[in-house]
Amino acid sequence: IDPRLDLVQEINKLKKEKNAVILAHYYQDAEIQDIADYIGDSLGLSQEAAKTDAAIIVFAGVHFMAETAKILSPTKKVLLPDLKAGCSLSDSCPPHLFAKFKEQYPDHLVITYVNCTAELKALSDIVCTSSNAVQIVESLPKDQKIIFGPDKNLGDYVKKKTGRDLVLWNGACMVHEIFSQEKIDRLRLQFPDAKFIAHPECEEHILRQADYIGSTTGLLNYTIKDPASTYIVATESGIIHQMQKANPQKTFIPAPPNNACACNDCPHMKLNTLEKLYNAMRFELPEIDLPLDVINRARKPIERMLDISA
Ligand code: 13P
Ligand code: SF4
Repeated sequence: IDPRLDLVQEINKLKKEKNAVILAHYYQDAEIQDIADYIGDSLGLSQEAAKTDAAIIVFAGVHFMAETAKILSPTKKVLLPDLKAGCSLSDSCPPHLFAKFKEQYPDHLVITYVNCTAELKALSDIVCTSSNAVQIVESLPKDQKIIFGPDKNLGDYVKKKTGRDLVLWNGACMVHEIFSQEKIDRLRLQFPDAKFIAHPECEEHILRQADYIGSTTGLLNYTIKDPASTYIVATESGIIHQMQKANPQKTFIPAPPNNACACNDCPHMKLNTLEKLYNAMRFELPEIDLPLDVINRARKPIERMLDISA
């Protein structure tokens, strides 16, 4: 690629020429967020994918998100700039093992967190995201037996919030599992007025300390409405770009991970670059392709979620 090319200008040109829409998750690099037509959490992005009238959806996110867009808009071309942009949480729940797990609980309803493969969604009754998991569980009768997967931390959080006894799959996200309680405690001593806000994919002992727990959109909105001037943020650091944009006078500190060499970047999310985005739009590749029967089976539990969240 010619290094003199103005990628932002070229991408904007391709958007118009090809009637394409760019949907980006908050964990994307700032320059990708800034060129997107819509930025959001997993629920917002799937709602947007379901209603867009663009011919091409360019998904600046990870594989399961682009799959969800394809399931909701099967006649559209869905592009993911790097097909290797996976998800450790999704990988922690192989569908063939989950199918066996599910057989042990024949009278249970299956709720799956959207961070999973299309195959897994096809094995589910209802999908949820971090912003509506509690609402979805509460929409079911109190005596309904439920399997919840693949995220055990979100599952634990939902159990506590709803008082329901869920059967959990033992999966987790590599980014939200590495926050250091000790370092967070030290930071809070250093910034006694700072609020500590966390994503429900974090472990229970981290969530216990939080002033607010929510999806990425929930966390962002909290920093807009809340009067504090400093926040320690326990989630992927990409969200801080929008927090800083919405609150230029406030300070945002990424919650420190255990390992000094680690950071809060999701290695999968960060595989996308402006250059890959440009190439994906130019060549209309790589494209998300799913078998029709998987699309049809996975669409029902996602639509059930969208109906409950409407
Ligand atoms: P939300 O943006 O829906 O909170 O999801 C967070 C996440 O981990 C996405 O991979
Ligand atoms: Fe998956 Fe975690 Fe990355 Fe989200 S942040 S895509 S859950 S690995």
